[in-house]
Amino acid sequence: MENNEFYSTIFKRKSIRNFDLNSLKENELSEISNYLQVLKPFDKDIKIEIKIVGPDNVKRRMMKKAPHYIAIFSEVKEGYLTNIGFMLQQLDLFLSRNGIASCWQGIPAPKKELVNSSNLKFVIFMAFGKPQDPETMHRSSIEEFKRKQLKEITEIKGVDELLEAVRIAPSAANRQPWFFTGTEKFINAYASKSGFARFFVGKYPQMDVGIALYHLKVSAEHFGSKTKILLDETARMNVPNGTEYIASMKLE
Ligand SMILES: Cc1cc2nc3c(=O)[nH]c(=O)nc-3n(C[C@H](O)[C@H](O)[C@H](O)COP(=O)(O)O)c2cc1C
Repeated sequence: MENNEFYSTIFKRKSIRNFDLNSLKENELSEISNYLQVLKPFDKDIKIEIKIVGPDNVKRRMMKKAPHYIAIFSEVKEGYLTNIGFMLQQLDLFLSRNGIASCWQGIPAPKKELVNSSNLKFVIFMAFGKPQDPETMHRSSIEEFKRKQLKEITEIKGVDELLEAVRIAPSAANRQPWFFTGTEKFINAYASKSGFARFFVGKYPQMDVGIALYHLKVSAEHFGSKTKILLDETARMNVPNGTEYIASMKLE
């Protein structure tokens, strides 16, 4: 399986919800396990645990069955949701790139035995397996992404090309709860925090911004920059209305 260039995958990937229920082959599952060992963290000081489990461990709550699920557990501390978004989006792209269908799944819940199998808190599933219809597992044009326009997600000028890969990132219920300020060399990421909606979407905006930050890293590296994620006090003090500060990315 390949993982050297995710930039083009970002423009093709999509959530797949109809799976072929046959298991993947042993060698495919072990390649996925190996890839899980090399996911890059957003914050390396947050402990996580990732397991590959079958549908018997999942209360699906209306979601269609998949042959396999990633279950991710985490220590609960500042940044843990963003860390999970950032890390599992690498897997979403890796699977898509290798012809394996996947879908982030916030609705299903873990069965008790799964919850009890880790000392860390269960956070979210990602369903994966062979797609029922391999012909339709990728998008073939940018028009197939239903997303906000760039001007709705940033005030930075001159970064249209860089942020296009971020604009089309996936998010829970496709809410795209992200906003970016700063300059082309220093980008601050914020997550929406609207009172009533927050009651429904809870933990997702911070996770979604983790996903967007991973797309930003891939895009920046594609255009030749080195990237560094950091927390910036000035960005934290200058929060756009209705948002909370998540992190900044320095591009060199
Ligand atoms: C954190 C998160 C949770 C999600 N939970 C679900 C879910 O429970 N069920 C589902 O069908 N899709 C779920 N999705 C998929 C989104 O609906 C999907 O990413 C979004 O509509 C954009 O579509 P795309 O992924 O095909 O580009 C989730 C996505 C994210 C990022």
